[in-house]
Amino acid sequence: MHNAVKVLISEDEIRERVHALGRQIEADYHGKPLTIAAVLTGSLIVLADLIRRIGVPHRIALIQASSYKGATTTATTLVINESFAPDVADRDVLLLDDILDTGQTLSALIRHVNDRGARSVRTAVLLRKIGRQEVPLEPDYCGFTIPNAFVVGYGLDYDDDYRHLPYVGILDGPEATPH
Ligand code: IMP
Ligand code: MG
Repeated sequence: MHNAVKVLISEDEIRERVHALGRQIEADYHGKPLTIAAVLTGSLIVLADLIRRIGVPHRIALIQASSYKGATTTATTLVINESFAPDVADRDVLLLDDILDTGQTLSALIRHVNDRGARSVRTAVLLRKIGRQEVPLEPDYCGFTIPNAFVVGYGLDYDDDYRHLPYVGILDGPEATPH
């Protein structure tokens, strides 16, 4: 059973914005050894739509990052699996995530990719949530800024569901409090 989802960003708005970001990235990375490193699983949908708007050669890397809250401290440990990430040494890496929330994931991945010898590292996010960031980080490319609500669709999940929705929506109902 699905909870009700209220549309926040429509399919048309997403398409238009993703196309614009693609054109911008294409211009910025012209003639550069670009690798787009997408953070699984939420960024898969935006990755597929975005790269078809980037008309310059580029590679794709997939990175899995799972965060675990410490039982006794507030520290978060990020476990990174890069089995599907080709060598990023001397590549211009663009990290792509579905949403910038606390910023913990992307800031750890920036350090990680730098340690791997990337030529440059930038970040792109489809969404940025207001008022949640714990780590200072300005994404280089951002689709939309959204209010502090739990959103699903266009790759974003609640309990691994709702990723297939073609729009971004706010999840309604008693379950919508996963943080
Ligand atoms: P951060 O490290 O807190 O910035 O975590 C970002 C990750 O948290 C994203 O990649 C999402 O997987 C997840 N996340 C944060 N907010 C939401 C949301 O509103 N809906 C779905 N997933 C979210
Ligand atoms: Mg995610």
